[in-house]
Amino acid sequence: MIISSTHDYRLAAKRRLPPFLFHYIDGGAYDEHTLARNVADLRDLALRQRVLKEVGEVDLSARLFGEAVSLPVALAPVGLTGMFARRGEVQAARAAASRGVPFTLSSVSVCPIEEVQPAMTRPMWFQLYVLRDRGFMKNALERAWAAGVRTLVFTVDMPVPGARYRDRHSGMSGPFAAWRRMLQAVTHPRWAWDVGLRGRPHDLGNVSAYLGHRIHLEDYIGWLGENFDPSIGWRDLEWIREYWQGAMVLKGILDPEDAREAGRFGADGIVVSNHGGRQLDGVLSSARALPAIADAVQGDLTILADSGVRSGLDVVRLLALGADGVLLGRAFVYALAAAGEQGVAHVLDLIASEMRVAMTLTGAQAVGEVSRESLVRV
Ligand code: FNR
Repeated sequence: MIISSTHDYRLAAKRRLPPFLFHYIDGGAYDEHTLARNVADLRDLALRQRVLKEVGEVDLSARLFGEAVSLPVALAPVGLTGMFARRGEVQAARAAASRGVPFTLSSVSVCPIEEVQPAMTRPMWFQLYVLRDRGFMKNALERAWAAGVRTLVFTVDMPVPGARYRDRHSGMSGPFAAWRRMLQAVTHPRWAWDVGLRGRPHDLGNVSAYLGHRIHLEDYIGWLGENFDPSIGWRDLEWIREYWQGAMVLKGILDPEDAREAGRFGADGIVVSNHGGRQLDGVLSSARALPAIADAVQGDLTILADSGVRSGLDVVRLLALGADGVLLGRAFVYALAAAGEQGVAHVLDLIASEMRVAMTLTGAQAVGEVSRESLVRV
């Protein structure tokens, strides 16, 4: 199979992974309306073609939280990444570092912080969930700081887990889930050997580093389920600030009022995101939510955005709507599952070259020149 886009990687990932994992990545909440809108609303934004603009060599470089990046893109935090490819977080982190972009380690990763950071040539970003067990949060913050992390992505759109019905159908959760997963592993022996046995993914790194013993997927899902904290409020940010001296980015902002509040509570940045349509189905797509948020806080906060990005054209569209940078979620995960580190590096190269074409043909020589003028106003 010739692979020339993230869509091709999605199909390749589907072939390689047991269904419970492919659908865990691919699926969203409830009837997946927001998941579909994320992609469709981005695609519906018409880029404004301009010609003969003497663009020359396009410059994709940017700065995010004081750091130079070779394109305004970072890898989003994705839980259980080490189940999609052997030591998956390390592979993805290496690919990101090789292409000069940040990698964000999820707090619910297979590889612990201490394993991922040494594999990289630049400090990674670390993502934290709000959990009832504040001991876990404190432990994770301390370990991240000690490993050299200076950018914390604090995810605020998961006080409760979303209703993900596809996971129940596929065997990720629901009745007889453990049995169904085992059956699927048997019918995907290449994956089971490479990731399941050699990759030791039953040891869920950041959690087991805190608990002090190995934790199996089953116990882990139970531990996580009991630990979401729906009582989290703005004042809890002050608690985090006590333990975190670096940059703090709130991920999961979809409303201008919350964006302003994030600024008032001392956040350095936000991620405009609906968690890739995995949390509350029926909310706005990022493409539709972003312009009002940018109007409310642009200049005060660094604005990142994600959800639905599948190409360099989508990155340019979100920059045009007011983002300073864009996170890739499924776009890199499909490639990791299909082709490991090389696949992720390839996707970053594809995104960069697609951005160059889009910027040349919309008349933007540098990232800072992409603006709402780069889109056709309908
Ligand atoms: C996620 N996402 C996520 N976000 C987060 O803050 N912590 C996490 O552990 C995870 N885990 C996770 C697992 C999987 C399989 C996916 C697909 C996503 C959300 C992620 O960071 C990002 O917001 C979305 O992936 C963006 O949407 P797209 O680009 O994937 O459509």
